Amino acid sequence: MNFELTEEHLAVQEAARDFAQTELLPGVIERDEHQKFPAEEIKKMGELGFLGMMVSPEYNGGGMDTVSYVLAMEEISKVDASASVVMSVNNSLVCWGLEKYGTEAQKQKYLTRLAAGEIIGAFCLSEPEAGSDATMQRTTAEDKGDYYLLNGTKNWITNGSTASVYLVIAQTHPELRHKGINALIVERDMPGFEIGPKENKMGIRGSDTHSLMFTDVKVPKENRIGEDGFGFKFAMSVLNGGRIGIASQALGIASGAYELALNYAKQRKTFGVEIAQHQAIQFKLAEMVTNIEAARLLCLQAASDKDAGRDYAKSGAMAKLYASRVAMETTIEAVQIHGGYGFVKEYHVERLMRDAKITQIYEGTSEIQKIVISREILK
Ligand code: CAA
Ligand code: FAD
Repeated sequence: MNFELTEEHLAVQEAARDFAQTELLPGVIERDEHQKFPAEEIKKMGELGFLGMMVSPEYNGGGMDTVSYVLAMEEISKVDASASVVMSVNNSLVCWGLEKYGTEAQKQKYLTRLAAGEIIGAFCLSEPEAGSDATMQRTTAEDKGDYYLLNGTKNWITNGSTASVYLVIAQTHPELRHKGINALIVERDMPGFEIGPKENKMGIRGSDTHSLMFTDVKVPKENRIGEDGFGFKFAMSVLNGGRIGIASQALGIASGAYELALNYAKQRKTFGVEIAQHQAIQFKLAEMVTNIEAARLLCLQAASDKDAGRDYAKSGAMAKLYASRVAMETTIEAVQIHGGYGFVKEYHVERLMRDAKITQIYEGTSEIQKIVISREILK
């Protein structure tokens, strides 16, 4: 296997790094503190092409491969995981799902604007009682002939109040269980659609997480994605790629924390030497960099599986399972290396530690990734 990056990959990586350092870094502590959505920054990311990276140019996308996407996600996440989750949802759940399974009319109407970053999208699978157990959908999409009548509640929706387009998973034929579920494109201003209050979170506090309520929302039939009953398969298929995005987010959080810890260790002196001279600190750094390198290889493996048309459900789940663990472990050690300074906001590592935790929870918890991996190896 060859993971030599091309000139194009390196250019994307550099552009993302520059953007993160110049545009995201200056306000990141304040946005975290005040739970402020990075609206201006996301707009610029759209203009630079970071919100529809893998979409074909025909639909205003960047026409890039998944490896480029992983590299960009890592750089953005090193600095601001709240911005990178917006990027991940828009790219790998919403845009990818519409490009792969949408009709030409849906692509023209929605994908072209989502890929250009003119609007952003949300992916709505989770419910108060259907998180890991995602087939237990209680939101209903009753077939009324030329439209669906949508009723129910979705929980924890990223981009909840900032999206214009929502891909909503709902049950149409309960007797068919997961084979009766549909995926519908819901527009923000459809009557009966209400956005609940914003969640007050431990991490990724700049991202916009809401519950959503649907009361007799009429969704035209032409807004269904795929055949009747395809909605659960749609969600699973989209999440296979989404997990590569979140794995790269975790990788970025880990490598951001490592870089900060390495620099700090070379500056801070105790007992007459830089703390980097103490073997205990050197060994922490050695563990961190080894784990990060392994996580990066798993992310690139999953991305190259996807780019090559190989199955990537297992490699994506492995990348997410491992990279999210590395993000948690690395950020804890980065705080430790900073000592008391690591515990205050201006040194960034405490935020990265809080942000790391979500990567073990969303787009399938670590326990769910193990279920996905075991099913693949046992089948
Ligand atoms: N890829 C493709 N198809 C899959 C699949 C996968 N990874 N996993 C399951 N399926 C298909 C199965 O083949 C099956 O189809 P058939 O009946 O036609 O064979 C169907 O889906 C049902 O599968 P299971 O019988 O395996 O279903 P299950 O009830 O045992 O659950 C599960 C499977 C993997 C646990 C699934 O429920 C799951 O992934 N849960 C986690 C949900 C999740 O990841 N939510 C994320 C929400 S989005 C989000 O979080 C965004 C964000 O934060 C930013
Ligand atoms: P549960 O499913 O109730 O799980 C509780 C615990 O039990 C977990 O540790 C879980 O791993 C474990 N568990 C459950 N079942 C099993 C099992 N079979 N074997 C072993 N252990 C098990 N969802 C969306 O649809 N769209 C979004 O945009 C979105 N964004 C999110 C943003 C944030 C900040 C958060 C917190 C969540 C978001 N989610 C989103 C929801 C997220 O995907 C779910 O929280 C996640 O899938 C877990 O579901 P749950 O919270 O209901 O936990």
